[in-house]
Amino acid sequence: MDLYEYQARDLFESYGVPVLPGIVADTPEEVRAAAEKLGGTVVVKAQVKVGGRGKAGGVKVAHSPDEAEEAARAILGLDIKGHVVRRVMVAAGARIEREFYFSVLLDRANRSYLALASVEGGMEIEILAVEKPEALARIEIDPVAGIDSAKAVEIARAGGFPDDLIEKVAPVFERLWWVYRDEDATLVEVNPLVLTESGEIIALDGKVTIDENAGFRHESHEGLAGAADIDPLEAKAKENDLNYVKLDGQVGIIGNGAGLVMSTLDVVSYAGEKHGGVKPANFLDIGGGASAEVMAAGLDVILGDPQVKSVFVNVFGGITACDAVANGIVGALGKLGDSATKPLVVRLDGNNVDEGRRILAEAAHPLVTVVDTMDDAADKAAELANA
Ligand SMILES: Nc1ncnc2c1ncn2[C@@H]1O[C@H](COP(=O)(O)OP(=O)(O)O)[C@@H](O)[C@H]1O
Ligand SMILES: [Mg+2]
Repeated sequence: MDLYEYQARDLFESYGVPVLPGIVADTPEEVRAAAEKLGGTVVVKAQVKVGGRGKAGGVKVAHSPDEAEEAARAILGLDIKGHVVRRVMVAAGARIEREFYFSVLLDRANRSYLALASVEGGMEIEILAVEKPEALARIEIDPVAGIDSAKAVEIARAGGFPDDLIEKVAPVFERLWWVYRDEDATLVEVNPLVLTESGEIIALDGKVTIDENAGFRHESHEGLAGAADIDPLEAKAKENDLNYVKLDGQVGIIGNGAGLVMSTLDVVSYAGEKHGGVKPANFLDIGGGASAEVMAAGLDVILGDPQVKSVFVNVFGGITACDAVANGIVGALGKLGDSATKPLVVRLDGNNVDEGRRILAEAAHPLVTVVDTMDDAADKAAELANA
């Protein structure tokens, strides 16, 4: 789970990482009040879980409450890379002397942790890594030893920090490690970490990713995922214990078993190239032993996605026999009645396939097309989505 910048700011503060005061606000009026409260120059910052807000017009400096309100009107409602801004943070303005970069992350490939640091911050890390790889230090962090004061100094030195700055940034690196370790994070990133004109080190922008698998030992993390963030379809799928991930395409996918669903996504993407470039709309695995009820719940979720133009149900009957799946499809369509308007392509194979196909043929639902092979079914579903 990614945190918003203001949530990262609050966490940093609780670990003694130097941050500036910040107040969240949802309306231009609240922004004005926040700016009055903070006084002086403030920065109005879009709270969306995507980087590059500054470049996209989501970070604006305001020298008065009037300007702050005006900035809020420009930022609230703004679409930044597909994320609509609903909330901003009004932060105290920093007088920046220099911008640096620091992060700790989970390095899956090396089964370890990695710290990245550079005295040349300010630009996006992806750009820095390509344009000036020599300026970005990569230091492996032993998960048990972590970042102690000696390691923090080593990181700062490798990142090119001059001696007088090393002693200032090293204690901040150490504290950021505490955040990483004690919150079970997989990423703690500060970009930029700044040196102010008055010589202070401050974390101006924070990005934290929390490992949800460790949620059981962090009661405080429950409150971090706001209800507003959760996609309503994903929430519905979760209620029904379905493994659902929304994607950008037009062909809804239901399958049983993660492997089958993944290969279904591939064949649909491939077939889509011939049909106007349509793509899978989701990943949905109803599981190896899925019942008819689960099929109905899955269909309900997928048909609720307005982007879906056709649905491909791809089931290999194993523990759940094809007749149960066929009954699930017929039952779900009956339940949905007139609200089901999208064509369904069904491919069944495996246990009790003949009975399954017979049930579908007998129901003869006008929206359902039964196709025998996976490739042909993908082609049909893509064609229907593009019609
Ligand atoms: N509180 C602040 N005071 C002064 N400048 C700021 C402040 N917050 C951000 N900035 C400036 O805006 C730039 C972009 O802001 P940042 O929070 O890093 O957003 P993003 O990384 O999403 O673009 C920073 O690099 C910094 O120069
Ligand atoms: Mg940033």
